Amino acid sequence: MKILSIVGARPNFMKIKPLYEEFKKRKINQTLVHTGQHYDKNMSKVFFEDLELPKPDIFLGVGSGTHGVQTGLMMSKMEEVLLKEKPDLTIVVGDVNSTLAGAIASIKMQIPVAHVEAGYRSFDLKMPEEINRILVDRISQFLFAPTKDAVDNLVSEGIDKKRIFFVGNIMIETLLSNIQKSKKSNILETLSLDSRNYGLMTVHRAENTADPKKLLELFISLSEIDTKIIVPLHPRTKIILEENAYLGKIGKNIEITEPLGYIDFLQLMSNSKFILTDSGGIQEEALMLDVPCITLRNNTERVVTLKENANILVGMDPLKLSLAIKGIQKNKRSYPKPPLWDNKVAERIVNTIISHPELFFL
Ligand code: UD1
Repeated sequence: MKILSIVGARPNFMKIKPLYEEFKKRKINQTLVHTGQHYDKNMSKVFFEDLELPKPDIFLGVGSGTHGVQTGLMMSKMEEVLLKEKPDLTIVVGDVNSTLAGAIASIKMQIPVAHVEAGYRSFDLKMPEEINRILVDRISQFLFAPTKDAVDNLVSEGIDKKRIFFVGNIMIETLLSNIQKSKKSNILETLSLDSRNYGLMTVHRAENTADPKKLLELFISLSEIDTKIIVPLHPRTKIILEENAYLGKIGKNIEITEPLGYIDFLQLMSNSKFILTDSGGIQEEALMLDVPCITLRNNTERVVTLKENANILVGMDPLKLSLAIKGIQKNKRSYPKPPLWDNKVAERIVNTIISHPELFFL
């Protein structure tokens, strides 16, 4: 059996790592393709180093562009790769444009697709990721769901139950394997931080950065609280803040850094008092680390994180945000963990692939 796995953007790398190791352990022939959707060192290479992933076998070098340009270029380059490599199965992870391009290119060449992180839905078609999720799930032969609600979403869309497998959360497997290593990071010393005495924020989503004024309002409202907030800045958000000369208007309690690697970021998350984010995966990582999360969105596809207020949705509303920050309790709480968010997710996925040869036929 020959497997071809596709990654491209930052949140893909930690999702492929456990699978890469599991295929290697079982001596299954695998090829790793990187589309080049993310290309800056601190958006890509640093993750390969931190996660001890080998250099991708094939690098497509697609880079940035509009959705049409980026996805189209990835598809045409993927076709060439698939023609040459002729895998028995393509693996795609998450919901980025590389996920969609890889899945479409593959299925059009009648190569079956396995989607890891299938079934998440925000029911918000304004999110490009929601479109990617729906389309990829519709054309995949193996749908590996991280949660029971993801399974329910797939069933309610009429997807054949025989193709849906509840296996748990692959990204959490990587978190669990790296938590000890992250404790050796010296990022707290580098940024002069005391454990549980700062907040951590990431904001990069297209809908949150499209209106620069809203972005500035967010930063101004955070400048009024008396907690230090660390903001590793995505390149897109950085450009917007710079172009609008906003950096000088931000309060002294806000410390902006370059995007961080996986290990440093894990250490920063684990020790933070709270996390503010518009990312998907970080909501889940916060839950696992028992750090309260405030999500800068009006909806989430990670609904399991909303239980017991482990995660609160505030959109980009400064008032809701400040109330949510005030509501954070002094003492650290332990949140209930969803089933199968453990260190056996890749094992379950590979066992499933091996034991269902009938799904390799379209
Ligand atoms: C993508 C994913 C998003 C994910 C995010 C993680 C899609 C539709 N979105 O969004 O789900 O949460 O990655 O970061 O796939 N840029 C650089 N250097 C890089 C990469 C990007 O400067 O290495 C800048 C470019 O200006 C680019 C912009 O960031 O145009 C956006 O990059 P893109 O990959 O299109 O989307 P993300 O916002 O990163």
